[in-house]
Amino acid sequence: MRPGGDERDTWDITTSVGSTALFVAAARALEAQRPEPLVRDPYAEVFCQAAGGEWADLMDGRVTGSHGAQLLEGDFGRHFTSFQAARTKYFDAYFADAVDAGVRQVVVVAAGLDSRAYRLPWPDGTVVFELDQPKVLEFKRDTMAQLGESPRAERREVAVDLRDDWPAALAEAGFDPTAPTAWIAEGLLIYLPAAAQEQLFLGMDRLSAPGSRVAVEEGRPMPQRVFEAKQQQERDAGQAGTFFTLIYNEQIAPAAEWFGARGWHATPTPLAQYLASVGRPIPADDPEAGPMAESNSLVTAVKD
Ligand SMILES: C[S@@+](CC[C@H](N)C(=O)[O-])C[C@H]1O[C@@H](n2cnc3c(N)ncnc32)[C@H](O)[C@@H]1O
Repeated sequence: MRPGGDERDTWDITTSVGSTALFVAAARALEAQRPEPLVRDPYAEVFCQAAGGEWADLMDGRVTGSHGAQLLEGDFGRHFTSFQAARTKYFDAYFADAVDAGVRQVVVVAAGLDSRAYRLPWPDGTVVFELDQPKVLEFKRDTMAQLGESPRAERREVAVDLRDDWPAALAEAGFDPTAPTAWIAEGLLIYLPAAAQEQLFLGMDRLSAPGSRVAVEEGRPMPQRVFEAKQQQERDAGQAGTFFTLIYNEQIAPAAEWFGARGWHATPTPLAQYLASVGRPIPADDPEAGPMAESNSLVTAVKD
C-alpha cells in the first residue's frame, strides 16, 4: 500500500501522484528557460500556467507553495532540471529510432504531461496511446484544446489505473498486438508496487510483436531504513505527499535483466553517464542529486 494512501487511490493533476506530472513538467519548462537548453518542450510551461498556484508562480520566478514546486529551486532544482531534460532528450531519440525502424504504434504508459504526441514529428499513420488516470488525461486534453493545439499523430486516451487490467483497456482502445510497438514507462516505476511493476512488464512483453521496443526509466531502491527516514523527514517538515511519501521503494528486477531474460536486446545507460555525455554532469558528492543520478538508469530494449 502507498504510504498514507490505499490500493485504489485516485488523483487529479494537482494532488498526490498526479502532481508529480506537474513537477516533472515544471522541470522541463525551467530547462526551456535556460540559455542553452538540452531540449525544448514548449507545452511544459503552458501546463504549469494552466495549473496555476505554485506551478504558475514558479514559471514567473516566484517560489511559493509547500508541496513540490519549491523543490525546484537551488542546487537540487538545477540538477533535477538537468536530469529531466536529459531523460527527455534520451527518450525523444529513442522514438526517432523507433519510427526510423518503421514502428507506427506507440504506447505512453503513465503519460502525465508528456507532450510527445503534440511535439514530435510522427510519420503519417502513427497512433499514440496515452495511459493515465482519467483526470490527468482530462487536464492535458482541456489545456491543449484551449491552446488550439492538435496532436501530430492519432492520439488515443486510455483512462485506466495501472494497478488494474490495463491491457484490456488498451485492447478496447484499438491496440494492435500484431504490429510492432514502441513502449515507454518514464517516471513511473517508483509509483508502482512490485506486483504492478511485474504486471506492467509482463503485459508489455506479451503484447509486443517482433520489432517492438521498450524504454524504461528506473532507479535502484534505497536501503529500507534510509527510505523510511526520508519519509519521516518529509512528514516532519509538513510536506507529506511531496515525494518520498508517494513512492514505493520496490523493484522487481532491473529492466535490462528482466527483458534480457525474455529474449529482448537491452541496453541500460546509467543516468550519471548520460548526463556527463550531454555536458550536464552532476557532482557525485551532491547530497540529494548525487544519489539520484547514481541510482537511475535509462533503459531501451528491442524484441527480435
Ligand atoms: C512523474 S509523472 C511522469 C509523467 C510522464 N511520464 C513524464 O515523464 O512526464 C508520473 C505519472 O504516473 C502516473 N501514474 C502513477 N501511478 C499510476 C497508476 N497506478 N495508474 C495510472 N497512472 C499512474 C501519474 O498519474 C503521473 O501522470
